[in-house]
Amino acid sequence: MDERAPGTSWGYPVSLLAPGQSAKFSLRCGDRNVEGFVVNHGGRFFAYVNRCAHAGTTLDWWPNEFFTEDGRHLICATHGAVYLPDTGLCIAGPCPGASLTPLPIARHGDSLVISCPDDDRDLRRRHR
Ligand code: FES
Repeated sequence: MDERAPGTSWGYPVSLLAPGQSAKFSLRCGDRNVEGFVVNHGGRFFAYVNRCAHAGTTLDWWPNEFFTEDGRHLICATHGAVYLPDTGLCIAGPCPGASLTPLPIARHGDSLVISCPDDDRDLRRRHR
């Protein structure tokens, strides 16, 4: 994780995020510090707030461990909520139908750039 003070966006080299891997980061969105994570799921990249839709804990019990053992889903270590990596939708465990909060992600050349959302109402509602 980057140790510098968080900004409103975070960049990461695509080459460091192979399929099945993840990386954590921090953003400063308005007056909130937001911890997030990005995953490479089958060559596509998705970023979410690291906050479970069930009880609001971070998903990773062990730092930067987000995938299930088979690598097909994301899982919360606290009570086992299982999420689809490409949508953040909870499909099993204590919160089916709920979703992780997505973060905007863009590719600029060899880097991924994850940003605060333009509208942070969703962060306010879920990330107090
Ligand atoms: S807090 Fe994540 S499953 Fe309960």
